[in-house]
Amino acid sequence: MLVALLSLFFAFLWHSRAKVVTADPPRKTNGYTDVVTWDNYTLWIYNQRVFLTGGEFHTFRLPVQELWLDIFQKMVAAGLNHVSIYIHMGLTNPAPGVIDFDDWRAFKPIFDAATLAGIFVVWRPGPYINAETTAGGLSHWLTSEIAGTVRTNATDFTEAYIPYIDAIARESAPYQVTNGGPIVAVQIDNEYDQKPTHAEFFEHLQRQYRKGGIIVPLTYNDPNERESFINGTGAVDLYGMDAYPQRFDCSDPKTWYPVATNYHAYHTRVNPSQPWYMPEYQAGAYDPWGGPGYDACALLTGPDFEDVFYKHNYAANTKLISYYMLYGGTNWGGIAFPGVYTSYDYGSPIRETRQLSDKYDELKRQNMFIRSSPEFRKTDWIGDSSTGIPGVSISSADAFGTLLTNPDSGTNFLIVRQNDSTSTASIAFKVTIPTSEGSIMIPLTTDSIALDGRQSKIIVTDYHFGTHGWLLYATASIYFAGKIGDRDVVLLYGSSTQSHEFAFFLPPGARVSSDLSPYVQVSSTRGKGTASVLPGLVGLVTVVETNSLLILYADAVTAATFWAPPVRDETPNAIKGLETFWQFGTNTTVLVGGPYLVRNASISDGVLALRGDLNASAMLTVFAPSNIFAVTWNGELVDTMGHEGGMLQAYVVASAHLQDGIDLPELKDWKYADSLPEIKVDFDDSDWVVANKTSTNLNVKPLFGDGRVLYGCDYGYCENNVIWRGHFEATGSETAVNLTIYGGEFFAASVWINDQFAGTVYSRDEGANQLFTFPEGSVVAGQDNVVTVLQDNMGLDEDDNEKSTRGIAGFDLVGGGNFTIWRVQGKLGGYLSYPDKVRGLLNEGGLYGERQGWHLPGFDTSSWESRDLSEGLPGEGAGVGFFVTSFDLDLPAGMDIQLSFQFEPFNEQPYRALLFVNGWQYGKRAANVGPQTRFPVPQGILEYNGKNTVAIALWALENAEVSPMLQLSVDGVFDGGVGPIATVAPTYSEVRG
Ligand SMILES: *[C@@H]1O[C@H](CO)[C@@H](O)[C@H](O)[C@H]1NC(C)=O
Ligand SMILES: *[C@@H]1O[C@H](CO)[C@@H](O)[C@H](O)[C@H]1NC(C)=O
Repeated sequence: MLVALLSLFFAFLWHSRAKVVTADPPRKTNGYTDVVTWDNYTLWIYNQRVFLTGGEFHTFRLPVQELWLDIFQKMVAAGLNHVSIYIHMGLTNPAPGVIDFDDWRAFKPIFDAATLAGIFVVWRPGPYINAETTAGGLSHWLTSEIAGTVRTNATDFTEAYIPYIDAIARESAPYQVTNGGPIVAVQIDNEYDQKPTHAEFFEHLQRQYRKGGIIVPLTYNDPNERESFINGTGAVDLYGMDAYPQRFDCSDPKTWYPVATNYHAYHTRVNPSQPWYMPEYQAGAYDPWGGPGYDACALLTGPDFEDVFYKHNYAANTKLISYYMLYGGTNWGGIAFPGVYTSYDYGSPIRETRQLSDKYDELKRQNMFIRSSPEFRKTDWIGDSSTGIPGVSISSADAFGTLLTNPDSGTNFLIVRQNDSTSTASIAFKVTIPTSEGSIMIPLTTDSIALDGRQSKIIVTDYHFGTHGWLLYATASIYFAGKIGDRDVVLLYGSSTQSHEFAFFLPPGARVSSDLSPYVQVSSTRGKGTASVLPGLVGLVTVVETNSLLILYADAVTAATFWAPPVRDETPNAIKGLETFWQFGTNTTVLVGGPYLVRNASISDGVLALRGDLNASAMLTVFAPSNIFAVTWNGELVDTMGHEGGMLQAYVVASAHLQDGIDLPELKDWKYADSLPEIKVDFDDSDWVVANKTSTNLNVKPLFGDGRVLYGCDYGYCENNVIWRGHFEATGSETAVNLTIYGGEFFAASVWINDQFAGTVYSRDEGANQLFTFPEGSVVAGQDNVVTVLQDNMGLDEDDNEKSTRGIAGFDLVGGGNFTIWRVQGKLGGYLSYPDKVRGLLNEGGLYGERQGWHLPGFDTSSWESRDLSEGLPGEGAGVGFFVTSFDLDLPAGMDIQLSFQFEPFNEQPYRALLFVNGWQYGKRAANVGPQTRFPVPQGILEYNGKNTVAIALWALENAEVSPMLQLSVDGVFDGGVGPIATVAPTYSEVRG
């Protein structure tokens, strides 16, 4: 009895350490809904304060619906709670009056997958999105068809976007969080300024979204510290600022820019009554044609960058952040703007292949901490090393600290980095900091806190977790904290080359072993313990284990192998629609160490069912509620061993394919046909569109010639390759044609006089002028002669240059008369009636073979000649040819196998090639520009259990031999994946009917 009473007394004491709760500031609403509100700290959703942390993903850059869940699950598994998604007006509204939500443009599969994964959506439908996509996402038709300035209140522009916005609102409104869907905010346009006519545009856009039933907050992303749309005309509900501090040159990835030191001051000055929002924060960089490649961009923005720069944002008290790009994807078809090539990998935490990188691990370490730390959601900015921090001193001037304090619990978060944020030196220091037990100087037992080069740490004091869990301080970082079953659990981590220290309160009667590991020393007195971790510790150590408390420690690498999947709440307590959302639907989880990925978990009748991916057989280390007695992995019961104190170990065996690899067929038996009949003497272009307009809305008015406008977009041909044919009655004295051609940076254009090649122009600029000399004898006097121009359209520009000129801006016959007629041909049907509605507007271009549908599966090439791709074009002349072959795949189910098409290494051969896979243009290679040689193609575009068709449109740019090589290759093999994936690949007869 006495014992029971005593322990009750201690339990009371123990309990009394729990935090006090004080009032929150009044919340603000937009007047449309109380479900999503905000105060000066954070966003609130359903009466809960939330640290909104997530990243950007464009479904249009991964046009396989089933795989959206893969990205969402990988984001949630990293601790993120929202995804930011641009919608592309040009793909959704491809022609005036046409709104297209079919196939991969559909919204419902996005929202269904988000709901299943448990991730909120910040919806960014533009109309303008930038995004390194053609015309910044504005519809191509609009750039040429309206006279007014885009992104202003010009009447014709307004009329042009209203149907799109109305359709977006109609299709999205049912999926707002107010209706149990995942959308928590909608962004207005993108990175703009508040000048007159722009501000009115924003105001009108907002009215249009509201009219359509959008009631969640409307947000805006300022490209810089411009203070736009906070006040006055066009002001939005929530202001945010984008930042790309390392910029976009990946060629020198070890050279850093310093962190911006004024973020907090800026926020305090411009919008202190709102939370500090970064709608886009750098998570990689895009790479231009000829650039160093995405591995360099991943280095420029590597785990060290995340460590220093992301924590620096927390130090500025940022509480809404989205990383751009979390997953980049692919600029298939004509999605790219001229500044970027097919891959939009972006050097992101999730690579284009959908594989997880070391950047993902660091992102996960930080976001698991944020998810685990309710006290971190509400912090006041107390001071930093430049202002001085009351009560805090740091013993080295080389370290820079910022103190955030939770005003209710008193929890301190001291964020430390190098004073020179680019420094690669090692520094060590001690910190004096207030705690509930008075001011202390930490560490107490180990030497110092170390920062080795580009490193940052969050040091906590009075950090609470679970019901009673309480760290007095930690110089180690927190990976996970919370409740598992009846126990308060914390997993701390730190670099294995440094020492770390943390102190914690113990439940009554708890005893701590002092002999856990040679690298961890624990002492305890009077209900308080201190752990000192020495350099050299690799792996997981259980520091304290009682019925009510579990304290774990691991080195940083081991920590990142742990997953804490939200366990769906099946009880009526959950908010309808949000049952899988951490913090909103559920706070139930388990800790699982070892596998490549845990996608989700459920618990029923004592069985923990885990789903995830393996890259090898793995020992699972599971911390679960004590009533769990069995574990399944992807539906199969696994043998569990050791079942001590709620820790289970289970060995999951990967399939043999992970060992043996995947056999892929060779690409051979190519069939070949010429794809440039336009230069033949007898070619009949009488059914082509006559290019005879004399006015244009595009940026560059005709420069020379006779005033005729030769811009593809003016004739409905605004995507990919366009072919021009200029006829003239020759006198015989014509010696050359002088052309100014616009195609966007890194375009090429080849010119023929009749059937003779006259040269190719290459340009690093948007347009170029060149004199194309007619070869001896190529002009025939007294009859019709034709100049044929084959050009690239590398996409339309962004940033107020959307009305890009793509075509011939000047033409002049040297030594001769005038062109009688110009005709133009682009993709079949132009934007008004292109036939391939599934793959959509941007897939095809105007090459002859594309117009004929040679790239489509099922086109009969049996009458074509056999010719290997590596032989190039017959006759080694400039021209265009199509190579087509097919191959079968029969890959095992239940796996995520990632494949690429690999060209020969960069060799500067003068050719361009379009890669079509089952009819989808999934690669554009410029062999003499680079850098891309490897083109990932996802399952769903590739058919993994059947026939695949691959076509290469080879454009030889010179009279020179070219020898492209192409093979299929494996990027990754994983057990698991999201399940069956349907291939969408309409055939020749389906598309061309
Ligand atoms: C556009 O906004 C400007 C003010 O900046 C105003 O003068 C003009 O009348 C507006 N135009 C239209 C068509 O509403
Ligand atoms: C938020 O507002 C409250 C007053 O309502 C103030 O005490 C607190 O310091 C503010 N915190 C931040 C981070 O703006």
